[in-house]
Amino acid sequence: PIPVLLDVDTGVDDALAILFAVAHPGIHLLGVSCVAGNAALPQVVQNTLKMLDAADAGEVPVAGGAHRPLINPTRDASHVHGSDGLGGIELPPTARQTYSIGGEAVGAIEMMRRALLASPEPVTVVALAPQTNLALLLRAHPEVASKIERVLFMGGSASVGNATAVAEFNVWHDPEAAAIVLDSGVKTFMYGLDVFNRVAVEHEKALELQSSSRVAERVAGQLIAHRMGVGAGREPVYTGLIGDAGALCALVDPDALRTEHLPVYVELAGASRGQTVVDRRVYPGEDSMHGLHAETGVTEVALEVDAPRYVTLYLETIARLP
Ligand code: BDR
Ligand code: CA
Repeated sequence: PIPVLLDVDTGVDDALAILFAVAHPGIHLLGVSCVAGNAALPQVVQNTLKMLDAADAGEVPVAGGAHRPLINPTRDASHVHGSDGLGGIELPPTARQTYSIGGEAVGAIEMMRRALLASPEPVTVVALAPQTNLALLLRAHPEVASKIERVLFMGGSASVGNATAVAEFNVWHDPEAAAIVLDSGVKTFMYGLDVFNRVAVEHEKALELQSSSRVAERVAGQLIAHRMGVGAGREPVYTGLIGDAGALCALVDPDALRTEHLPVYVELAGASRGQTVVDRRVYPGEDSMHGLHAETGVTEVALEVDAPRYVTLYLETIARLP
């Protein structure tokens, strides 16, 4: 299995991704780091712990990291994820605790550092949230970069935005953090809105999941049903999305994607702040690298997806959970 550190702002679709990460035999979950994004940090941590319960996960270290973006103010996404981040679905209280050593709480940055250094193999970081934790990690402990196989992130777009007309939420929320990661010298893979907005479960299937005898499927059904209410009327693009979970599908089943290696930088100023500028020209100009790291400023960008294949993969994977 692929050793994975998961960074989340749980979030309805991060929650769907957690179920998948626990269930998929090809993923070895080394830890889950939490960051403010869809909801405030304490809420994100609670949601994450509860979702690990829903997935009946064994012991997985969970730690809280950044409470707010590097420069931006804190802004949540309660209009999409509800005020609790999970669309108001009822989950039992959890007995899980966050990561600690010798009774002392350990934060997300330190948890990631330790996990990376302890891993015999390079680790894939899957970032499903604003990249504040990752940027702080790479700035504070640059020596861990060589232990990162790549950063596969949900974020950005080569076409439409969602937080603004041109910016995707995770990058918009903390543009400087994303810029730091893209220019860190670590290999990057962008699972952006171009593919994110395509992978959706059908209404009937969501209803079926809600009456499943398995806990994880029932919870997934409720989460997807909540997501269906968001952006209703703009079908089919925005309803029933598995969202962040698609980035984990990309990890274990990359052949369902068409990708290109392209220069990507984050716009940091003006009205398009937070936009990922993806240079898709046949003959990129001298301007295309924008001062990016010469070898690694190029990102593998997912541009097209076999959406039904990911829906099936998602549903078959969570069906493994009790
Ligand atoms: C991203 O923003 C968040 O609201 C979702 O969880 C996802 O990670 C989509 O733009
Ligand atoms: Ca997210």
